[in-house]
Amino acid sequence: MNETPSVGIHDMSFATTHYVLDLDELARHHNVNPAKYHVGLGQDAMSVPAPDEDIVTMAATAAAPILQRHGTDHLRTVLIATETGIDQAKAAALYLHPLLGLPSTTRVVELKQACYAGTAAVQMAAGLIARDPNQQVLVIASDIAHYQLDTPAEATQGAGAVALLVSADPAIARLDPVCGLYSADVMDFWRPNYRTTPIVDGHYSITSYLAAAAQAWRDYSGRGGRDLSEFASFCYHQPFTTMAFKAHHHLMCSAGITPDPTAIHAALRYTTDYNRVIGNSYTASLYLALTSLLDHAGDLTDAPIGLLSYGSGAVAEFFSVTVVPGYREHLRTTATSQAISSRKPIDYDDYRALHDTHLPTDGGRHVLDEHTTGGFRLAGVTNHIRVYETC
Ligand code: CAA
Repeated sequence: MNETPSVGIHDMSFATTHYVLDLDELARHHNVNPAKYHVGLGQDAMSVPAPDEDIVTMAATAAAPILQRHGTDHLRTVLIATETGIDQAKAAALYLHPLLGLPSTTRVVELKQACYAGTAAVQMAAGLIARDPNQQVLVIASDIAHYQLDTPAEATQGAGAVALLVSADPAIARLDPVCGLYSADVMDFWRPNYRTTPIVDGHYSITSYLAAAAQAWRDYSGRGGRDLSEFASFCYHQPFTTMAFKAHHHLMCSAGITPDPTAIHAALRYTTDYNRVIGNSYTASLYLALTSLLDHAGDLTDAPIGLLSYGSGAVAEFFSVTVVPGYREHLRTTATSQAISSRKPIDYDDYRALHDTHLPTDGGRHVLDEHTTGGFRLAGVTNHIRVYETC
């Protein structure tokens, strides 16, 4: 009998927006002690999209280097995961076809379950590749966290995309077989079709996240998963980075381990560096945590990494990857830090103006001003059709 091939992350790449808002600016205008953001939420800055950026431009920017490196010969599926859908029918990934030269012989789908959908896409990709190890799946998690102005959630906005090439014999990390799952009907965060910002019960969403994480861990343990002590590090969905610390504390309690701040710090350090300055990127946030860990930690060869994915509403999954030898040669650490450091700082007034910018809905021909210096932009909207261009 043939041995089942290992499946996992063969390449990963990150993109974010043209603008950035320092949270000190927000604190000053909201008359809030900046320590609440820096220490309490663990956030220093947030990415802010330009009017000519959206989830498609970020997705294209994240995916382009992967396609340059690996080509498209084995690409059979493109899955985009997002909470920030631009259309209620058409998958956002289809706009990538002309931008990236994607083959027509692909299946293309958009997945939705708040911040969890990226993990659903990764698991579905693994299933497809297990059936045919010769094919690769491009998973793109791309999101803009856009909350109502003058609400407590405002400081937890952000934007980013992580593209993952999932394949057999991966060059970066193998997906381990055991997963722990939990789902329940919870109204902690949702966005009806007629709203541009979500409705969120902030403190309830934190307790829902913690409860779901504990249940997913319980399922994982019951299915023969590793002990908590076996993991080298843990990546959590990070709506704000201190949430990861709350979650790990809670997981330790759930596993019957007395939480120790030093052990929690050791387990999570390196996983929060990027999210701290990007803000919440919903579906991309967990994979940005993994990117941060791989980019900043010492050698993790053969190390098992625990991952906790949470999407309000609510679904949680605890799963793990094992880092493979030689992974460092495949990381894009310089490109990621350039994407972060090249953002243009804006002041509070510009941020408010951008927040209130919406695409026209009258079906006319509208050309958008050029803001982004990224590789792709939304050039306009005509007859209700978004028109993208390569810069
Ligand atoms: N110095 C240091 N720390 C301070 C401080 C100061 N001067 N002032 C306040 N803090 C601390 C608080 O003690 C608190 O920490 P603890 O939780 O550890 O006690 C922290 O800063 C935040 O303070 P508050 O709880 O008073 O903040 P808030 O009520 O104004 O808002 C929030 C916080 C509820 C998270 C809000 O930002 C929010 O609604 N965010 C969006 C929802 C969210 O991110 N939920 C997370 C789970 S759901 C999920 O993960 C899915 C998703 O992506 C949305």
